[in-house]
Amino acid sequence: MTERKKVTLTTLYSKAEKGEPISWLTCYDYPTAYLQEQAGIDMILVGDSLGMTMLGYDSTLPVTMTDMIRHTQAVRRGAPTAFLIGDMPYMSYQASTEDAVRNAGRFMAEASCDAIKLEGGREMADRIRAIVAAGIPAFGHLGLTPQSVAALGGFRLQGKGAAQAKRIVEDAQILEEAGACAILLELVPDRVCELITKRAKNSLIMSLGSGPNAHGQLLIYHDMFGLYPKFTPKMAKVYGNAGEVILSGLQAYNQEVKDQTFPAAENYFGMKDDEFEALVKSLDN
Ligand code: KIV
Repeated sequence: MTERKKVTLTTLYSKAEKGEPISWLTCYDYPTAYLQEQAGIDMILVGDSLGMTMLGYDSTLPVTMTDMIRHTQAVRRGAPTAFLIGDMPYMSYQASTEDAVRNAGRFMAEASCDAIKLEGGREMADRIRAIVAAGIPAFGHLGLTPQSVAALGGFRLQGKGAAQAKRIVEDAQILEEAGACAILLELVPDRVCELITKRAKNSLIMSLGSGPNAHGQLLIYHDMFGLYPKFTPKMAKVYGNAGEVILSGLQAYNQEVKDQTFPAAENYFGMKDDEFEALVKSLDN
């Protein structure tokens, strides 16, 4: 087991101050969380992307708080010291600040999160303010926000033009003023990300496909290892094809069962002759 001390907001701010980039990954289950903890990943996001990567939906919209809490609890069991962020699912915060505070509180109380994340700019500033006022660290999320993908016109770069980029820069400032301890910029041009990072005073700026000039980087775990069958976004780096390794193992198993080369002697247990004879005898009576 890792000897690492618990990663806290103080740890993260201190890394940012020293110019040490923060590593961040998505994770949805116990065994993967265990590996990420061993690898020393600083922050883990239990994203509502689990709707697509783990539950097979076409979008993140059907994901519920119950889904999120169950997966987040499993991740916390596997990664006790990583800074753990629960992602507020669709309609867990949009309708009212009361919903937002109550559901953010569930992540903290039921899944031992260190923070929550929600999507949206200025229109969500009051939610961030209320959550932070309740003593819960809150992450903002700007640029490509998957819960609004229909309104954004698909999974595409956000803030390409000056006017749209200005709105993202302003939104980042508004979320920071509302108390967001960190802001994720997803799929915005690198120079916009750099500008926001330079202007940030109290918020950590994290990049997902938005270039190197941020306080840290986020990747979707399934994209890193070829584990999402439908597509791999262009911005993702593939570090290995676990999907291929698993598929060839499954094919080999299927074949070995059929040609009776599995199980081999080392895959099962025998019984002493006298015990077996006694068993057979007892059944004869
Ligand atoms: O749900 C998620 O994994 C996310 C990332 C896309 C940032 O919100």
